[in-house]
Amino acid sequence: MSQPLLEATGISHSFDYLLFSDIHFSIASRQSAAIVGRSGSGKSTLLHIFSTFLQPNKGEVTLLEHDLYTLNNEEIEALRRYDVGIIFQFHYLFKGMSALENISVATMLSGEEIDNAILKKLQIDHLMAHKTSELSGGEQQRVSIARVLSKKPRIIFADEPTGNLDKETAELVMDVLTAYIKEHEAALVLVTHDETMAERCDAVYRLEEKMLKEVV
Ligand SMILES: Nc1ncnc2c1ncn2[C@@H]1O[C@H](COP(=O)(O)OP(=O)(O)O)[C@@H](O)[C@H]1O
Ligand SMILES: [Mg+2]
Repeated sequence: MSQPLLEATGISHSFDYLLFSDIHFSIASRQSAAIVGRSGSGKSTLLHIFSTFLQPNKGEVTLLEHDLYTLNNEEIEALRRYDVGIIFQFHYLFKGMSALENISVATMLSGEEIDNAILKKLQIDHLMAHKTSELSGGEQQRVSIARVLSKKPRIIFADEPTGNLDKETAELVMDVLTAYIKEHEAALVLVTHDETMAERCDAVYRLEEKMLKEVV
């Protein structure tokens, strides 16, 4: 089997108390994995660890063949800019800019072209000239997802990306994300409350009792 895109071993972390310990996780290209668990169990924290934003108290993370805790700041910045895509429940678009300008910022930084096929699939291609503030919440969320995908990440971390969307739009977003990883040899790590979204992934893990257990 080819090298996983992400491999985490022996991860333990605590803030005020121990959140989880000795977590092992890996994901290969073209694969999707969901992480479910109760609120406060540490799902977002684990995603921050996997995606370069937090160093755990213990453990190793190898992301896209880089041992994260040996990289300097510039190397981490380059990984974030070119290779890692992060989608949050609450998007951070520039309010005064149009949808197109918001997406252009990301493609300029990563040296990619805007991918019209992605805009079409997300059903936002006709909204490009609109100011962010004129779009509905669901439209804004899809613009923010297009912005992430347009930079052509090799691995996507999504934290409750469909939490604010109606069921139909949530399904559309999952269609687009799962198609993207197959087409671009990428991987998707999805944190979700939504069992239906979780079941659409190749693997499902539950974070409970301070452990990560594979349930599917
Ligand atoms: N930066 C932080 N500093 C201190 N405590 C934190 C920090 N981030 C998260 N926590 C705490 O860690 C626990 C798990 O949080 P989180 O990872 O956001 O859980 P989940 O995403 O599963 O709801 C919570 O009790 C939260 O308050
Ligand atoms: Mg969370």
